[in-house]
Amino acid sequence: MCGIVGFVGREECADILVNALRRLEYRGYDSAGIAVFEGDRIRTVKAKGKIKPEKGDDEHSGLLYRLETEGKPHGTCGIGHTRWATHGEPSDVNSHPIGNERVSIVHNGIIENYREIKKFLISKGYGFESETDTETVAKLLDYYYEGDPLTAIAKVLGKIEGAYALGIIFRDHKNVIYAARKECPLIVGKGEHANYIASDVTAILEHTREYYLLEHSEIAEITADKISFYDINLNPVEKELQTATWDIEAAEKGGYEHFMLKEIHEQPEAVKRTVSPRIKDSMPDFEECGLTDEKINGYDRIYIVGCGSAMHAGMVAKYVIEDMARVPVTVDIASEFRYRRPLVTDKDLVIIISQSGETADTLAALRLSNNIGADTLAIVNVVGSTIARDAKMVMYTNAGPEISVCSTKAYAVQIAFMYLLAFRIAYAKQGITEEKCRELTSELLGISDRISECIEEKAQYQYVASKIMNADSLLYIGRGLDYAMSMEGSLKLKEISYIHSESYAAGELKHGTISLITEDMPVIAVATQQELFEKMQSNIKEVKARGAKVVLVTRKGIVYDEDSVDYKVVLPAVSDVLMPMVTIVPLQMIAYYTAVQRGTNVDKPRNLAKSVTTE
Ligand code: AGP
Ligand code: GLU
Repeated sequence: MCGIVGFVGREECADILVNALRRLEYRGYDSAGIAVFEGDRIRTVKAKGKIKPEKGDDEHSGLLYRLETEGKPHGTCGIGHTRWATHGEPSDVNSHPIGNERVSIVHNGIIENYREIKKFLISKGYGFESETDTETVAKLLDYYYEGDPLTAIAKVLGKIEGAYALGIIFRDHKNVIYAARKECPLIVGKGEHANYIASDVTAILEHTREYYLLEHSEIAEITADKISFYDINLNPVEKELQTATWDIEAAEKGGYEHFMLKEIHEQPEAVKRTVSPRIKDSMPDFEECGLTDEKINGYDRIYIVGCGSAMHAGMVAKYVIEDMARVPVTVDIASEFRYRRPLVTDKDLVIIISQSGETADTLAALRLSNNIGADTLAIVNVVGSTIARDAKMVMYTNAGPEISVCSTKAYAVQIAFMYLLAFRIAYAKQGITEEKCRELTSELLGISDRISECIEEKAQYQYVASKIMNADSLLYIGRGLDYAMSMEGSLKLKEISYIHSESYAAGELKHGTISLITEDMPVIAVATQQELFEKMQSNIKEVKARGAKVVLVTRKGIVYDEDSVDYKVVLPAVSDVLMPMVTIVPLQMIAYYTAVQRGTNVDKPRNLAKSVTTE
C-alpha cells in the first residue's frame, strides 16, 4: 500500500502533488517525495517521515520541511509518492520517487522477482543506491529505454513479477507521465487542460471527479491535453470515463463506511501478498531471513509472545506447531512474559508478533529474550519498526497500513504467516512429509478465495448482530483451534461494541462458568473441527438446556443438531487445520455489525490507541 500521484497541466505542480499526497497518507506514511520536470532535468525532493511532522515527530523531518529547505521544484508536470515500506526500511534513500537522471518512478506494491532483476542489472554494470525492490524497475526501464518509453515499459512489464502500480517519467519526454498497473490500484484523472494519476480518487477529488480505471497490464500515456491507453502489446485501448460520487472522507475508505470494513475486505489480497513471497518451489522458505532447517532443528522449545490480537495469532500457531512438529510451544502475553522470569534459554526460539512493531510490552519481551541469548524472530507489519530492528531475525507481513484500531487484516496475515512457519517447522522436524507440506502450503496460498466467499455473506452476520446487540454479556466457546479463534472473536466484540464477552474453553464450562448461563447470555459456539465436534455438540446442548441463545459458527460438512442452535453461520470447508483463516471473518463481521448497530465509534473505540507504545 502507498500513495501514488501525478499531475501534468499548465500550472506549477509541486503544491498540487503534495496536497494530493496528503490525502493519501492513510495508505502509507513512512516517507514521501516528488519528482518534477524542471528545465531540462527531473528534480526530485524526498524525505523520510510524514509529509508534515505530527506531535512527537522531529519538526525538521518530512517532505514539506525538505521542500522549504531545498526549495520547491518548478514545473508543470511531476509524480509523487507516500510510502509504506516493504523492502528497505524507511529512509531518505529508500523513499520514492526512485531512478536516475534519465528515468524516475513511483511504485506501489511488491516486485517478487526483484533479486533476479537486480542481479541481471548488476551484470550489466548498474549500481544500486537503495534497498528497495522498486529501484530494480527504474533501472530496468533505463536499461530497455532506447528512445521510446512505451516500448521500454512494455518490455519491463513482461519481466517483472508481483503486484505493482507505477508512475513513470522520462527526462527526454518532458511533461509526459506514463502509468501501468497489475493488482495495485491506479486511476487516471481527467481535468481541464490538466490530467492526473492517483492510487485512488481521493487524491484528486478537489480537481476532478472524472477518471479512468487502469486495468491489469495496461499502460497510460498522459499529457496536459491527451490521455492514451495501450495494452501490453502496445495496441491502443478505448476506456470508459468514470465519475466519482464519493465525498473525500468516504473515498479515503474506498467507499466503505469504516476503515475496519475496508480492511476486512482487504484480507484476501493481504494474505496473498504476505504468503506468496515466502513460498519457493511450492515450499515455505525462510532462508533469506536466516531461519534455516538446521536452526529450527536446534531449538529445544518455541515461545510466542505478543499482545491482544497478536497474542491470539500465537495461540493458533501453538496448536498447529505442537500438533504437527511435536515441538513444545509456550504462548505468552508480553506484559506477563517480561516480569515472570521466563524459563527461556539460549537454545530456544522466541517469536515476537506485532503489527505496529512498537508495542512497549512486546518490545520489552523481545529485549529480555535477546539478553538471555535466545534466537528472536519478529513477525511485524511495519518495516523498520523498533521491534523489527531489535530482533535477530525479522519477517514482514504485507497487510499494508491498518488504520482501524481494531486489528483485522493484520491478524489475518499474522496467522497466515504463522501457518507457513508451522509447516516449515513441522517439515524440518520431520513431523510432516514434503508432500504434505507442499499440499498444505498450496491450500494456504489459495485460501484467499475462500476468505472472499465468507466476506460476501454479510446478511447473515448482520442478522446475528441484530440478535446479540442488546446483550450485556456473551460467551465465545470452542475447543482446540476454535478455542483460539474464540479469543479473537471475543476481543473484537468487546473492543468495538463495548459488550462484555469472554472466551472459554468449551470443555471447561461445567467447572464453574456455566452458572452464568441464562436466556440473557448468548453463546457463540465456534465449532469447525470435525474430530472435536461431538464434544462441542454436547457443550452446545449444555448451554442450550440452560436457556442460552446459541449462535453456531461451523463449516459445510459438519452435521449438527438443529434443535440446539438458534442462529448459524456455515463456512466453506477447507482443511480443518486451516479453518481459522476463514473462521475469523464471521467473528470480525459479527463484531463489526454489532458495533454499527449499537452506534459506537468503530474505527476509534473509546479508551483505545492503535499502537500501545507505553506500558
Ligand atoms: C486488536 O484489535 C487490538 N488493536 C490490540 O489488541 C492489538 O492487537 C495489540 O495492541 C497488539 O498490537 P501490535 O500488534 O501492534 O503489537
Ligand atoms: N515495495 C516498494 C518499497 O518498499 C513500494 C512499497 C509501497 O507500496 O509503498 O519501496
